[in-house]
Amino acid sequence: MTMDRDALKRAAALRAIDFVESGMILGLGTGSTAAFVIEALGARVAAGLDILAIPTSERSAAQARQLGIRLESFAEHQRIDLTIDGADEVEEGTLNLIKGLGGALLREKIVAAASDRLVIVVDHDKLVPRLGTHTPVPVEVAQFGWQATAAALGRLGSTPKLRLATEDHQFITDGGNYILDCAFGPIADPQRLERRIEMIVGVFESGLFVGRSTAVVMASTSGVAVMTPAERKLP
Ligand code: 5RP
Repeated sequence: MTMDRDALKRAAALRAIDFVESGMILGLGTGSTAAFVIEALGARVAAGLDILAIPTSERSAAQARQLGIRLESFAEHQRIDLTIDGADEVEEGTLNLIKGLGGALLREKIVAAASDRLVIVVDHDKLVPRLGTHTPVPVEVAQFGWQATAAALGRLGSTPKLRLATEDHQFITDGGNYILDCAFGPIADPQRLERRIEMIVGVFESGLFVGRSTAVVMASTSGVAVMTPAERKLP
């Protein structure tokens, strides 16, 4: 029997929930896979799990609120015990990521950077030998002067495209910014590229997440695997 993609996403989400314990401050990711995590967390909260959560988007906040998950912010907590989030590409071995096709990359990176552990939930289609194989790198930029920022990103070897929400309207992030989707092709040195992108004036963050994954929970038709980066162990 073949499992559809949503069934795989749900299977990864359910396995990742095993890392959650009562008393934790939890980062809530964004996207269709993270939505399965939030759904499963809602069921656990209804059954007595005691957590506080910081969401990475208004969308995830609305879903969590509806499920009775208590939300707080960085005003109350500047560290997060564990964040569970999705990704668009996961690099084999390093578990470096491209994130942001769902448009929440800046908040996701702020939450990831404040987290003791970042657990990523994906289905097997997201695993690639090199980042950039299928996905452009989303870059969140200021609206003002975005054309100049795009030209600078172009000089790094990409073809930036302004993300649109509809044919006539730009996509606007929760923070009020634009996204430039930058196709680089397979990326040889994601760490160097991440630094070079973030040095460009007008850029807030890129969707390259280098050295941030604690574990990746990957579902395929043969089961759910928990992978850790070669040089790190799960605490
Ligand atoms: C949002 C993200 C998402 O985690 C990423 O796009 C994966 O989404 P999905 O689970 O729907 O494939 O980075 O900014």
